[in-house]
Amino acid sequence: MNKEVSQELKHLKALFKGIAALGISHVPKRHLEKISDIEEKMAKKKLQATTVSLKAADLSELEQIVHKCHLCPLAQSRKNPVFGEGSKNPILMIVGEAPGREEDIQGRPFVGRSGELLTKMLRAINLERQEVFITSVVKCRPPRNRTPKKEEIEACLTYLLKQIELLDPKLILCLGATAAHTLLGTEEPLATLRGKFHQYNGIKVLVTYHPAYLLRFGGAKLVNLKRQAWHDLQLLQSEYEKIKNGAKG
Ligand code: URA
Repeated sequence: MNKEVSQELKHLKALFKGIAALGISHVPKRHLEKISDIEEKMAKKKLQATTVSLKAADLSELEQIVHKCHLCPLAQSRKNPVFGEGSKNPILMIVGEAPGREEDIQGRPFVGRSGELLTKMLRAINLERQEVFITSVVKCRPPRNRTPKKEEIEACLTYLLKQIELLDPKLILCLGATAAHTLLGTEEPLATLRGKFHQYNGIKVLVTYHPAYLLRFGGAKLVNLKRQAWHDLQLLQSEYEKIKNGAKG
């Protein structure tokens, strides 16, 4: 959902509450029009998302759509879009931020330095890459690996949401703030989001540091970050094993 629009709506609703609390029953017509205008925009956005997503009946069809995508300027500078890869029936889906240099060249997610670390992190909790599905919020590499812009994330969001719908994971691991903020619809700092489960559409979502972030530090800072990441991974492992031994198989 467009954050500016929803924030504006929140603001207006708070304003109206305040007006009602003052005992004023008449609300100016232009204010009402503004609210319905915003709500209409929000509904349209949702509809757009559904329309695009409805075109893909399965994952490979969706992948073909992503390969032809030109919804944002990143399509012009990419070598390859990076749709994601892994199990088609995963308990766990991993969502990063955006492809980097190596991913752009190979068209595969997390195959560079942060990918190596991700593979090690997964192995530390007895998981292999092919057991999970790995993707990123944005499917094309932003120039010089900069953080994806809001409009690039919005353009790509339908693909991520459709991937989640088709893969039907029981757990999602968000690597870094971009994934967490996009899926959870919040701007809370990563430090307060990590270490506990959240929900996206009834799916448990855990947030932890992006491996690329961990790779930036050394010394005491790295020791501290690794300790926190390990705590997150253990939480994930415990939930993963509970689910694996119970329902999905
Ligand atoms: N970082 C990401 O977030 N995704 C990738 O695919 C690679 C690095």
